Amino acid sequence: MNYNKNFDSIENEYIFSKIRKQASSFNNPDLHLIDLGVGDVKLPLFKQTITAMKGACDEMQKEQTFKGYPPANGYQFLRDKIAQSYQNLGAKIEPDEIFITDGAKGQLGNIAELFNYGINVLFQSPCYPAGAESNVLRDNNVDFLVTHEQDGFIPYPPIGKRYDLIYLCSPCNPTGAVMNRTDLTIWVQYALKSGAVIVFDGAYSEFISGDYPKSIYEINGATDCAIEIQSFSKSLGFTGIRCGYTVIPKRLGELNALFFHWLGRRFNGVSYVSQRGAETFFDKDVKSQLEKRIKFYKTNTEVLKIALKNLNLWYNSSVCSPYVFAKTPNGENSNVFCRKLIENLGIVSTPGSGFLHGGEGYFRLSAFCHREDALQASDRLKNLAQYY
Ligand code: MLT
Repeated sequence: MNYNKNFDSIENEYIFSKIRKQASSFNNPDLHLIDLGVGDVKLPLFKQTITAMKGACDEMQKEQTFKGYPPANGYQFLRDKIAQSYQNLGAKIEPDEIFITDGAKGQLGNIAELFNYGINVLFQSPCYPAGAESNVLRDNNVDFLVTHEQDGFIPYPPIGKRYDLIYLCSPCNPTGAVMNRTDLTIWVQYALKSGAVIVFDGAYSEFISGDYPKSIYEINGATDCAIEIQSFSKSLGFTGIRCGYTVIPKRLGELNALFFHWLGRRFNGVSYVSQRGAETFFDKDVKSQLEKRIKFYKTNTEVLKIALKNLNLWYNSSVCSPYVFAKTPNGENSNVFCRKLIENLGIVSTPGSGFLHGGEGYFRLSAFCHREDALQASDRLKNLAQYY
């Protein structure tokens, strides 16, 4: 069979499917499973979001307001609100530079389809693996810019080789590293000088506190060299509903028009009901509830960090992330360590090696959990010492 042989050079199963399988096969009647593996939200949708979606369903029930295929690039009402939110940040983004999508994951790979096969691509790493693996499957030359604990996992531009696409993620999944204005300005200038396009993954931007840019378009020159990918998954709790967006400024030349054509051919749009739900992200009442929710998840990270501190394990100090990224005891292999965590303590985590280069020797705990689970996990972690 003439299948794509690039599949042979990536893991045979996607890391998060593996983690889900591991969790579902756990069977110890004496130990309730605490799932801190896949970063899947646990708290329900906001009342306003549900009301908006129910309203959209009612419209679907009447012939006069029924809607069929959505526009491939999304409904104007949602693109207008998103453009306004960028303008509020001081960024000149217009509604026709925004494309409503079903979330961030697919987009990380789809963007590469706007370019030739075999281009040079750079990923900050450890990184969320979906984008890198999609680029490998496209036969692109993928390099990893390994970031380090000593630098707070912040990536700095490489010297030498020229890249067509550079993937950055801030706050970074999994490390939690968040880039400040200076860091991002360095990257924007580097991209402008070298003719690269930055793909900026901002899926966790709502977790930012402090004076960090939430969008790359807060940086001068970024509308000339950067694509931004955003998602409502981790903010509005849309991991199951699905809705996000990609921004391609027209100043990037043909890429804006190419993506419009790409969507027309490959995508039938996001449902009207989901987009009406997503629109509530911009509602004032929802915003204040969202802030509380983000604080709730971030408090979970603090609970987990205290447990790791008591074990003398290194962990990321970032307070802009729903993940705790930590070092395994005695440099243990991350798969071995995560297996021990699940088998002995009933805690699901994600091995650092799943986040590709630079991730080995670390593990990630997701704080998208109920408070009882964070507390119970930290209690169980006290017993970790006996296995070392
Ligand atoms: C994660 O990092 O846990 C992801 O968001 C899960 C996924 O999207 O596959």
